[in-house]
Order: sequence, then C-alpha cells, then structure tokens
Amino acid sequence: MRIDVVTIFPGYFDALELSLLGKAKHKGLIDVRVHDLREHAHDKHRTVDDTPAGGGAGMVMKPEPWGVCLDGILDSAASEAAEASDAAQVPDPDPLIIFPSPAGDVFNQRMARELAEESHLVFGCGRYEGIDQRVFDEYSARGRVRLVSLGDYVLNGGEVASIAMIEAIGRLVPGVVGNPQSLVEESHEEDGLLEYPSYTKPASWRDREVPPVLLGGNHKAIEAWRTEQRIERTRRVRPDLLPRELRGEPRGRHVAE
Ligand code: ADE
Repeated sequence: MRIDVVTIFPGYFDALELSLLGKAKHKGLIDVRVHDLREHAHDKHRTVDDTPAGGGAGMVMKPEPWGVCLDGILDSAASEAAEASDAAQVPDPDPLIIFPSPAGDVFNQRMARELAEESHLVFGCGRYEGIDQRVFDEYSARGRVRLVSLGDYVLNGGEVASIAMIEAIGRLVPGVVGNPQSLVEESHEEDGLLEYPSYTKPASWRDREVPPVLLGGNHKAIEAWRTEQRIERTRRVRPDLLPRELRGEPRGRHVAE
C-alpha cells in the first residue's frame, strides 16, 4: 500500500518509523511518503495561510500550495501505475484523498477495514481554521475525496488524526501483523464486543490473582469465561455496541391489544 501525507509538520510522521509500522515500512509492505506543504509555497516566506474571505478569526490554508503538491502526487501515482510491470504492485491511478476533519464521517474499525483494501491513500493534513473549500471541490471533481473525523472533539490539525488512521489501517494490511488471529480476537472485530481482560505471569501479584479458570487448562471453560467477560465489559462500558440479542430487549415487535 502506498500512503502519501501532506503536512506542514513532517516531524509528526517520524512516529511511523517505530514498532510494527516501521517494520512494515522497511519490509516494503507500506510505502509512506511525507510531503512538506511549505516546499510547494513559492513566495519568499513560504506562506501557506491567509486571512479568511469575509472576515472572522484565525487563518485559512491557501489553495495554491495544496494544488501544486496534490497534483504532483496524483501525477506520480499515474506514472507509477503506467510503468509498473508487476500487476500485484500496480498502485491505484485514482488514489483516495482523505482530509482529516471534525466535519467528516467518524472513523471506526469498519472504515479501517474498508480503507485497508485501497492500494493508495493520500492524507491531507489541514491546520488553522481549515483548508480553502476549493481544494476539496477541485479534487472531488477530479477523483475520490473523503473527509474523515477521528471523533467528536477538536484537534489542532490533521496530523495526529492521520497517524491514528494510518496505524489502524496499516495493521490490517496483510503481513503487517505477524499472527493474523490476533486481529480477529480484538475489540471491534467480528461480533463487535470489546476484548476480554488479559493476564500473564506471575499468578499472584500484590495479592491480586490471575482468575483460576485461566490456570486450569480447560480450554472450553476458558473460552466461556472470556466470552462472558467480553459481554459484561461491553454491557458496562459500551452498551451501544451490544448485539440486539444481548441487550435484554424484547425480540418481537410489541403488538397493542
Ligand atoms: N482535525 C481537527 N480535529 C479533528 C478530528 N476530530 N478528527 C480529524 N481531524 C481533525
């Protein structure tokens, strides 16, 4: 998978060198290219923002540097697609451009799975009061654009949101996580229940014991205990995620007599 990131703070993305994603980068499973938007601002001060049209607080990102930078990425995607000889390596000539924004669709595990199927994603990180609307309009008219929110709160820009999404998406790319079974067993996968609590050695720590069922070697009993824990935890923390049959609501429609 190819991932391009456009930002005025490329340093944020050094974090992608660490841990599993860093390994995936070095193995060539994920090809991350970070672009400094300021390099595409051609005035003396490399200005990327200006006052809002119509007045108001804050600054808005100017469209010109975005246009130059995104055109360069799209052109390189098209030429790499044309040059690639190995069909499995062909990047998408029509990448999906994601602008992290509190005004977008809320990111979740389902969206991560959907985006992990893409061969080329571009993350455009806005700052200040946002990016000039004409950038979204231009690239929506020419290709695929999505505004995606990390949640109902406001960050200072799209960088942290992009890193979170890249991590959630990247770990679903085949080969990135060593044991694919660990992807199946975690929260928000499969049945939507939260994960069960985990323990390791020692069996007793500060008078706190590992639940005896986990030490008994009865795999059926362990599985039943874990399922029970997942249901109880989901009911307590995120009742909205409980499948209907576990919500304790009447199954059939109530018929008035
Ligand atoms: N930029 C600022 N706030 C954000 C959020 N909640 N999600 C994605 N991008 C953002």
